[in-house]
Amino acid sequence: MTATLTLTSQEPARLSVDALVVAVAQQDGSPVLLGDVTLPKDLRALVTQDAGALGITGAADEVRRVPGHGITAAVLVLTGVGPAEDVTPEALRRAAGAATRELTGTRRVALALPTDDVEQVAAVAEGALLGAYAYTRYRTGDAPAAVETIQLVTAHPRDRAATAAVARARVLAEAVHGTRDLVNAAPNDLFPAAFVDLAKSTVKEAGVRGLRMTVLDEKALAAGGYGGLIAVGQGSTRGPRLVKLAYAPSRPKGHVALVGKGITFDSGGLSLKPPAGMETMKSDMAGAAAVLHTVVAAARLGLPVVVTGWLCLAENMPSGSAQRPSDVITIRGGTTVEVLNTDAEGRLVMADGLVAALEEKPDVVIDIATLTGAQVVALGHRVSAVMGTDDVRAEIVAAATTAGEQFWPMPLPEELRAGLSSKVADIANISGDRMGGMLTAGVFLREFVGSAPWGHLDIAGPAFNEKTAHGYTPVGGTGVGVRTLLRLVEARAEG
Ligand code: BES
Ligand code: MN
Ligand code: ZN
Repeated sequence: MTATLTLTSQEPARLSVDALVVAVAQQDGSPVLLGDVTLPKDLRALVTQDAGALGITGAADEVRRVPGHGITAAVLVLTGVGPAEDVTPEALRRAAGAATRELTGTRRVALALPTDDVEQVAAVAEGALLGAYAYTRYRTGDAPAAVETIQLVTAHPRDRAATAAVARARVLAEAVHGTRDLVNAAPNDLFPAAFVDLAKSTVKEAGVRGLRMTVLDEKALAAGGYGGLIAVGQGSTRGPRLVKLAYAPSRPKGHVALVGKGITFDSGGLSLKPPAGMETMKSDMAGAAAVLHTVVAAARLGLPVVVTGWLCLAENMPSGSAQRPSDVITIRGGTTVEVLNTDAEGRLVMADGLVAALEEKPDVVIDIATLTGAQVVALGHRVSAVMGTDDVRAEIVAAATTAGEQFWPMPLPEELRAGLSSKVADIANISGDRMGGMLTAGVFLREFVGSAPWGHLDIAGPAFNEKTAHGYTPVGGTGVGVRTLLRLVEARAEG
């Protein structure tokens, strides 16, 4: 459950909450309190004069607690935003999120962070909600729960733009949390048909008009010539699905198609991964989860753009019925693929999804996938890659920057196509050259896109946080992509 968030103009020191959060920045090497919070003199003196002893520097991702002497809250929490000269919305988002995340186990929290304009109100609200997340589905006993209620202190709590920003932040955070929940679900529980059921209940719970879901099961997929989904899914006892989720408002300003990779577990298939390589492969459906929740969020916000989401769901398993290296399959639309490595399965299901999405002639198609290990090698764990046609790539990078997600442009060099030539089929699913593997996967997908405006997001690294929590990002599923895609749809709605 996402926390509730309200705006208040009450005196922070008097708010009946369990913890009061204030922001600290770094100015000329020393910590300074940000915003105009009035704290009791002794408490203010304590955090400024004893900052060194208390380990308060104002650095980003630093969260310190001191006793709430003289205030209603039991604890005063100091969250670092980094350099005072450059307090960006994203710095505030992260500082707010780091605080609520660190306060897991605390019920009621108030934040008195800078809220000088609507942009700052939105950033603090988003960060606070995004950080208030804990995945406890499989914990028995009482695991610490996420923060439940959040109050944001601001001078104008009834300002129309501010309350709208809070309402939007809530939809956004619920979409990100829903994506994280799906990614964190264990793969014995989350298989293609189970994903479909959860998608159905998500759509139902959203309770919005103009959302329609269509599901193709393995029989319908075979009949429709979806050879990629069939081939990848045939090794599993739990068959593949293709979900189309269409949000169609009246008088739309355009049509955005989103295609998500939904491999509920990637063992590699007969080209089996080593055990360590499988440990995080329950997250190989993060693209499909992001697409589902972006479409639902767009519908909840009533954005005047048609958004169709395509979830390419399959479980990649080795078995007597699994596809073999050297099998030749036919993607929807007729292109034949020689499958030389069954672990390069994402591009096979995504090819089917892209072809299906493009049959409706959307204005733009964007796919999102945990596609390649090479993505992680190229950009690390926190930066996602954007490829595709030049205009769409730039549009996505701009949307990501506004949303506060790190997406970086990458090329699709024409010469890499030669490495994908097959001795028997139209194209092979892997190249003879391992180098530039992320780009090769993008070049493979381009084969199925033709001349359409297209964006390709490889989120292999950022989708799942194996390291430590930071800012509003927890360990495990991160929900990456949702904020960027939603921002892109909003920007198109704004015209
Ligand atoms: N799901 C993986 C990519 C991946 C790896 C995502 C690590 C997140 C973390 C994908 O299906 C895969 O196995 N790709 C292969 C492709 C190769 C066989 C050409 C890879 O990257 O090794
Ligand atoms: Mn794979
Ligand atoms: Zn995969």
